[in-house]
Amino acid sequence: MSKRTLAQLDGTQLDGQRVVVRVDLNVPMSGGTVTDDTRIRASLPTIQLLHDRGARVVLLSHLGRPAGVPDPRYSLRPLVRVLEKLLGFPVAFLADPTSSDAVSEVRHLPRGGVALGENTRFYPGEEKNDPALADRFAALGDMYVNDAFGSAHRAHASTEAIAHRLKPAVAGLLMEKELRFLGEAVDHPARPFVAILGGAKISGKIDLVESLLPKVDRILIGGAMACTFFKAMGLETGTSLVEPDRVDMAKSLLQQAGDKLVLPSGAVIAQRLDGSAPTREVSRDQVPSGWGVYDIDDASLQLFADCIAAAKTVIWNGPMGVFETPPFDRGTLGVARALAAATRAGAVTIVGGGDSAAAIAAAGLEDQVTHVSTGGGASLEFLEGKPLPGVAALDDA
Ligand code: 3PG
Repeated sequence: MSKRTLAQLDGTQLDGQRVVVRVDLNVPMSGGTVTDDTRIRASLPTIQLLHDRGARVVLLSHLGRPAGVPDPRYSLRPLVRVLEKLLGFPVAFLADPTSSDAVSEVRHLPRGGVALGENTRFYPGEEKNDPALADRFAALGDMYVNDAFGSAHRAHASTEAIAHRLKPAVAGLLMEKELRFLGEAVDHPARPFVAILGGAKISGKIDLVESLLPKVDRILIGGAMACTFFKAMGLETGTSLVEPDRVDMAKSLLQQAGDKLVLPSGAVIAQRLDGSAPTREVSRDQVPSGWGVYDIDDASLQLFADCIAAAKTVIWNGPMGVFETPPFDRGTLGVARALAAATRAGAVTIVGGGDSAAAIAAAGLEDQVTHVSTGGGASLEFLEGKPLPGVAALDDA
């Protein structure tokens, strides 16, 4: 069901209004410095639109997993100057967004003013979707915008319960964009439709494989999860990461999928996971005991690249090898380049968040694909066909 969006609201409805915006500012930090500001930049269009229309904007977000207690390591305060720099105007900080002081600070914001609340996960009620905490967050605004696609799979006080309390409750520009790109790709794909899945574990991707199988023309599988399939085929997997309790599941997926499921024909192997260890390329039935699979080989990359080149819609979720340890990044970077080439040739290419977003950024190609999702877990759950509570709670269109 489609949801009401910020873009659909009449601009005059926003002038002077206090608007609570749930953003996903859960960004990687090191020593108080943001090391990747992608999610912050992705949140700017909604903030800018509200600022331009004269709204009083309250930003709420979590950062990390502080477990319901204030923890200075997870304070959002350092993000104030990052936002100020990107927006070009001052941003206030609400040290306790549940306090009556915060309510009065927001009332005193100038039209177009923006305030950032402290981490929503400093309150034990956040992850419990606690109505009382949602009431306190709701007291900060006259209406609600959820732009936190990355947190939409969480039913938390600031993502779910609050949407029942502040009306209208609408999707922000980023949320709308994510739902449109991911939704179109899955529901109305131009064909051939190819999914590329990777990562360490098949256990986290079983629902995804099952939900994509009836929709796609091909599923290409890389990463260590391919090794569980190799095991299911009776092949020697050496010291590779295999999930023994998923081998039967892999067997039944192989049967169910037929030739839709494409596995690597070979692998880059080493005796240990170490960038300086000697490596070999072998076909998948030649993995010696004592060696492990750490990447797809060149022949598999070529096979995958050919499938990607023939596709009109591509979804990619999960690396092909241990891409954070070169030289085991070659398969993943090669897939990133194949996606960019397919995009240039007119295909719609969607990169799921998390590791694959990091990989496309490492390849410097994030601007050369159709859409890179800001949601890791959220994009996975969306593609699995699961309802996202943060979206479900918003007003219907
Ligand atoms: C994410 O980074 O995937 C989101 O911000 C959600 O964070 P969480 O997994 O800690 O709920």
